Order: sequence, then C-alpha cells, then structure tokens
Amino acid sequence: MKRGQGADLRMATIVEQLVPIKPKPADVWDVERIRKDFPVLSQTVNGRPLVYLDNAASSQVPVMVIERGSQYLQQEHSNIHRGVHYLSMKATTAYEGAREKVKRFISAREAKECIFVRGATEGINLVMHGYGRKFIGVGDEIIISAMEHHANIVPWQMLCEEKGARLRVIPMNDAGELLLDEYDALLNEKTKLVAITHVSNALGTVNPIKGMIDSAHKYGVPVLIDGAQSAPHMPIDVQDLDCDFYAFSGHKMFAPTGSGVVYGKASLLERMNPFQGGGDMIKSVTFEKTIYADLPNKFEAGTPAIASQIGLGAAIDYLNIIGREKAAAYEHELLRYATERLSAIEGVRIIGTAREKLSVLSFVIDSVHPHDIGTILDQQGIAVRAGHHCAQPVMKRFNIPATARASFAFYNTKEEVDQLAQAIEKVIEVFG
Ligand SMILES: Cc1ncc(COP(=O)(O)O)c(C=O)c1O
Repeated sequence: MKRGQGADLRMATIVEQLVPIKPKPADVWDVERIRKDFPVLSQTVNGRPLVYLDNAASSQVPVMVIERGSQYLQQEHSNIHRGVHYLSMKATTAYEGAREKVKRFISAREAKECIFVRGATEGINLVMHGYGRKFIGVGDEIIISAMEHHANIVPWQMLCEEKGARLRVIPMNDAGELLLDEYDALLNEKTKLVAITHVSNALGTVNPIKGMIDSAHKYGVPVLIDGAQSAPHMPIDVQDLDCDFYAFSGHKMFAPTGSGVVYGKASLLERMNPFQGGGDMIKSVTFEKTIYADLPNKFEAGTPAIASQIGLGAAIDYLNIIGREKAAAYEHELLRYATERLSAIEGVRIIGTAREKLSVLSFVIDSVHPHDIGTILDQQGIAVRAGHHCAQPVMKRFNIPATARASFAFYNTKEEVDQLAQAIEKVIEVFG
C-alpha cells in the first residue's frame, strides 16, 4: 500500500459514517458576520490570529451577552426575591425572565422545572442529593455509560458507597457507540436511575437517548441526561425526549461561567429533598421545623449567580436570533470537513468514529504525547484541549493516556480547520 493510501481509505470510511444532521444549507451561514459578535476571537496569540477550538471546555461569549451583563451591573444590580424596592424588583424580573427563556429553550412544561445551578456538575449533584439519597438504597442499581464525564460518574459512586447501591456501566464499541443490547440487559427491577450523557465530550458521540429513555421507563426508572455538550449544539425538547432530568452549563453555550440549569419533571422535584439549606429556599423557619419553599426556590438556597443567569438568558436570545438549527448544520459541516482533513494526515488517529457525532474531534498522533501536540499548536495560536477530558474511563477503554481534542462552534471556519491540519503536519514533522 502506498504512503497515504491507508489514510485515504480511513478517511473515506470515517467521513461516510457521519450521518448528516440535515436540512438547512450551511452555505447561508455568514460566519464572518457571526465572528464579529465575539470580540475575543479577533486577537492574536503568540503572534498568530487566535484559532479557538476548545469550545467543548468553554465557549466564547457574544457582545449581546456581555452587554446584558454590563447593563445588569451598571443599572440593575441588587439581590432578588427579597426586596420590595425598585432595583430588587428589576433584578428579580430579569432573573425570572431568564428562567422563562430557559423553559422555552428546552421546551419544559413549566419554568419552575428549570432550576438554576452553577453548571452541569452542580445539577447532577443536586439530583444525586435530592433524588438519589432519598430514593436509592441497599442493593439498588444505577446505570451510567462507559463514556461519561467524571461529573456523571463520581456523584453516583459516592451515592453507591453511602447507600450500598451498585453502579452498572453500559459498554461501548471501538467506534465509541454504546452497546444498546447490553443496556437493555442491564435494566431490571433493581435499577433505580439511569444517568447518561447526550453527547460525549471526549468522543463526540451523540447517544440515541430517546430510545434509551423509553427503555428505562418500561421499568419505571427515571433518566437523567447530562446535556453539557448537547444543549449548546442542538435543539432540545425535554418533553419530547421525556427525560426526567436534564443538566447543562451556561459557559459551554456562550454564557458566563456560574450559570447553568438542571431541569426536572415537577412531579419528581416536588418529591425530592432540597439540595442545600439556607435563605430563599424556605416558606417558614422555626427552631423546631422548616417548611420548604415551592419550586423552583426549594432548590436555590442563598444568593444565586444573578448576573450569570441573566447572561444565560441573553445567550439563549442570541442563539434564537442566529438560528439554532442553522448553527447546528454549519457546525456539522465543519466537523465533517475537519474529520476529512485530519484523517488524511498519515500518523493521525481519530478517537471516536461513531456514526452520529457532534462538534468534537479527538485524535492522537503515534509517538507524540497529546500535551506536546497542545503546546505546539498553542505556539501557533491554536487552542485545543489535551488530556483525559475528565473522562479517564474513556481513555482506558481506548488504551491511551490522553487525546488532543478540537471542538467546534458556529463561529469557527474551514480556514481555521486548514490551519489546524497544517499545524498538526508540523507537529509530525518536528517529532517524526
Ligand atoms: C459531558 C459533560 N458533562 C459534564 C461536564 C461538567 O460541566 P461543568 O464543569 O460546567 O459543571 C462537562 C464539562 O466538560 C461535560 O463535557
């Protein structure tokens, strides 16, 4: 076989395997216009124009969100819910307005089902404490998958340890797709919760969660979806999915850090214990007894990240303006292009070749540690993530210590992908 021929074959298979998200033509996407909304993108890093490909870790924030935060701080800053004065009422209206936007964004039935948290991690921990500690006991089973972020592993391990419950893990194949037959075989009358990621942050796999939720519900088992990587990149309808919980982080979807949401069906949230105790989550307190507030306040003890959550509302406005489906179609095109470019490079191995993928392209180069890849790319102004991506079991499954990961957003361009590919070729040259 001639040099490069193997790569061609590999590329053809990997690219063909990707199922197009469909419908909107990506060529109507005015990426240069969109990029103007993100001031951070127009800087140089190490003397080169910044190429930001670490969106799965944290995405960038558009001017519209920055200005909304600034307006809040300059003209509305105050504590919420408690004050009767003008500023407090303004801040409360903005904060609760953001909750309404979240409700529409994920098609929840009611705004009170959308609990503001610091991010997906806190959302999952809220469900662990509020639901898990109350309803899961000795001998019960919790099912997660082999491709979970540590945020959707460790809380359940902690719960299992505390309660004497058992963690079961859905395995995956070499492409990074869950083995659904094995999942079906794991479900039984001892299963008390299924907690799975919608999209893998380490592999990019989009899991067929609707069917998986249906299967769990046949056993009366509630399902938590870790939506950290899906909410920013695809339309979400929690009622259509019929998931019981759905957690996501604002900082991965063009909003400030400290913002995020865990959605829960009202019927479940009402039966759960509060997550934290303190101000704003009570109806009344005596030394003998506390009566908790109704939803959503029951789960929002203390002063929340008001400015950040208002920023999340503005990020949702922004996504609605640019068009989520169009953005998703463009991102998918970009992923296809990047997959094509990188898999054509001799020595590059893509980790995660599922048919359904989104936004994330993990790769390794034979005999170069991903940290070295990351450092050399950084010298050329290209930001990728190198490491285990808080998914050590995924690394173990693929028998690698780490990967380099390029992750895309709708403001990235094909030219940036070309720059990435050229920089990778350089890495191979240097280490080759
Ligand atoms: C799939 C997934 N779940 C959970 C998290 C945790 O998100 P956060 O750190 O914002 O709480 C991440 C972050 O990378 C993630 O990718």
